[in-house]
Amino acid sequence: MAQIFPEWTNRLPVLVLTSAILFIILVTLGIWYYWSPWYTDVGYAPKQPVPYSHKLHVGELGMDCRYCHIGVEVSPVAMVPPTQTCMNCHVMIKADSPKLAPVRTSWDQKTPIFWVRIHKSPDYVYFDHSAHVNVGVGCESCHGNVAAMEVVEQKKPLSMGWCLGCHRDPAPYLRPRDQVTVMDWQPPPNQAAVGKEIMKKYNIKPPVTCFGCHR
Ligand code: HEC
Ligand code: HEC
Ligand code: HEC
Ligand code: HEC
Ligand code: HEC
Repeated sequence: MAQIFPEWTNRLPVLVLTSAILFIILVTLGIWYYWSPWYTDVGYAPKQPVPYSHKLHVGELGMDCRYCHIGVEVSPVAMVPPTQTCMNCHVMIKADSPKLAPVRTSWDQKTPIFWVRIHKSPDYVYFDHSAHVNVGVGCESCHGNVAAMEVVEQKKPLSMGWCLGCHRDPAPYLRPRDQVTVMDWQPPPNQAAVGKEIMKKYNIKPPVTCFGCHR
């Protein structure tokens, strides 16, 4: 009898089925991975709409964090700067750079730049930047050495155990208030005494009860 289909087609249904199963497994793994803490926590460094570099602006040009993150001493949120802040310099500096094209578009059309959020605590956690920065907890303790980052990356887990680790014994991390934005800070040899001194000065008692962070 003449064969209409070549013999390999007998295996076709099996092939289709296995590919379908493989496909489903891959999609499931993909979603599971991207929504899991492994992806969203330490090491998370998403691509931003503008190749803005902290390494250049802070590390090389020496800008202070508070020039852009103006909320950090006065409010719970540090805030990412509006386009105006960039244009203070970039109306003049590199005014034609293609890398700054999205900044100019945002400026001309009065639309915000959609920076991708990196550090994010769940809504049921209460966090306040000013409460930390104003008593001498440096940005670096929670964000790492940002002045060395071409692209910002999450360096600490921001988990409950991590927060509590410091709240139970903050003295090793405390520095004079005027040094909170200094990067690559090295504690002095007498840090134990300095830390205790700062704790006394501001009467520091970080919350360790549930209501302190879940209110
Ligand atoms: C010239 C303005 C500017 C200066 C100065 C600056 N930043 Fe930023 N920062 C930005 C912009 C814009 C973003 C959002 C884009 C990005 O993540 O790179 C950002 C993002 C961040 C983020 C991540 C925010 C998130 O979504 O979780 C951290 C943390 C941060 N900055 C810390 C610092 C620290 C610490 C300093 C000082 C050592 C500093 N920045 C100085 C402009 C600035
Ligand atoms: C205090 C002034 C100042 C501010 C404010 C500032 N920048 Fe810059 N920026 C500079 C300087 C200086 C350079 C380096 C120019 C050079 O390489 O000659 C630069 C370079 C850049 C570049 C690289 C351009 C290229 O073609 O290589 C980008 C992108 C950039 N800045 C983005 C931003 C963004 C986004 C903001 C706002 C969050 C910002 N800058 C705020 C001074 C500033
Ligand atoms: C005690 C730890 C801690 C310190 C100190 C700290 N941060 Fe944060 N930062 C966080 C946490 C936690 C988040 C996420 C907050 C949230 O989701 O509500 C965050 C978020 C941010 C963001 C994202 C936008 C926002 O406002 O939430 C920026 C920008 C930022 N920090 C900059 C800074 C700068 C600049 C400093 C130093 C002047 C600093 N942080 C000091 C823990 C810290
Ligand atoms: C490196 C040390 C350190 C880390 C990490 C840290 N904290 Fe704190 N926290 C402090 C200190 C110091 C204070 C100030 C306590 C005081 O003034 O009595 C404080 C105060 C607070 C307060 C009280 C604020 C207020 O207004 O009463 C809250 C809430 C808080 N922290 C939440 C958190 C959360 C949530 C995290 C983790 C995402 C965290 N902290 C991580 C050191 C730290
Ligand atoms: C210093 C701040 C702080 C204190 C004090 C604190 N928590 Fe939390 N808690 C957090 C943070 C931050 C998270 C979010 C962790 C994350 O994103 O992985 C969290 C998450 C949780 C979760 C969700 C856990 C999960 O795996 O999703 C529960 C439940 C919880 N806390 C209960 C408590 C209880 C009960 C207490 C009192 C014994 C307490 N917390 C005290 C900061 C705190």
